[in-house]
Amino acid sequence: MTEVPNIRQALLTGKHRLANLGDQATHECLILLQNVTQKTKVKLLAFDEELLEVEQYQRFIQLLERRAAGEPSAYIIEEKEFWSLPLKVTADVLIPRSDTELLVETALAVLANKQQANILDLGTGSGCIALALASELPQAQITACDRSPACLNIAQQNAKNLGLENISWHESDWFSALSVKPYDLIVSNPPYIAADDPDLASNVAEYEPTYALIAQDQGLADLNKIIQQAGDYLLEAGHLILEHGWQQAGQVQNALRQQGFSAIETRADLQGHERVSMAQYSSHVR
Ligand SMILES: C[S@@+](CC[C@H](N)C(=O)[O-])C[C@H]1O[C@@H](n2cnc3c(N)ncnc32)[C@H](O)[C@@H]1O
Repeated sequence: MTEVPNIRQALLTGKHRLANLGDQATHECLILLQNVTQKTKVKLLAFDEELLEVEQYQRFIQLLERRAAGEPSAYIIEEKEFWSLPLKVTADVLIPRSDTELLVETALAVLANKQQANILDLGTGSGCIALALASELPQAQITACDRSPACLNIAQQNAKNLGLENISWHESDWFSALSVKPYDLIVSNPPYIAADDPDLASNVAEYEPTYALIAQDQGLADLNKIIQQAGDYLLEAGHLILEHGWQQAGQVQNALRQQGFSAIETRADLQGHERVSMAQYSSHVR
């Protein structure tokens, strides 16, 4: 008969196997153990002398080996929390990053006095931004699009699981399938990494879809396309909010200025990296 450890021993085995992750190892093991036991983190830690079932331990070891090989835990358990919403993720979609919550915060600040806004989310992926905004602004009308039908499929499953209905989903190459001028706010976290960027961690490049990460022209091609066309889709005084690379703020600001945007501002993420730029559209200066 296979001997099974208790939760504490399983955590120790996992921590040892994922030693290369340093301080993150215990956190990652807990994510995997939560998945196999369906217990909360608090319960796992509070009752760590409880024995695992044989199947639970075997499954934990299988998941641990996938994590040790470099696969992100969000893909292993097919779930990632964003804006406190549990989202389904598969290898078709980018894993939502906590940095992107800054874009959501910025959007909510811009719409503080306009709860019924028309919002467009370009390159929705898992749907994380559109869903976070929909959960905060039930009266808003949100349009979310992506070029990838696989992404739209996951995003729509997420909307259904969360019971969020104020979003319409469209397959579109940026603005191509959309009608002009109805939006108070356009948000996007487009691909913005240069193909030869040394910061592109090998496990990210290996597991996450390159169509969600990499853009031509040193990572600026999609940002520039969106900035060039956004004015045709924004109402007067509407806002454009973009996530970008931490060294791209200057170039994004210049592109916004060239297209006649005003009130251009960049905000830094929790690491102090310039991550999100926002600007306001005015037809007079175009
Ligand atoms: C960086 S991911 C962002 C996903 C999600 N919004 C997030 O913040 O996690 C970029 C997304 O843009 C989509 N995308 C790439 N090129 C596109 C295009 N030409 N038109 C529309 N969507 C595109 C990708 O499929 C991907 O889902």
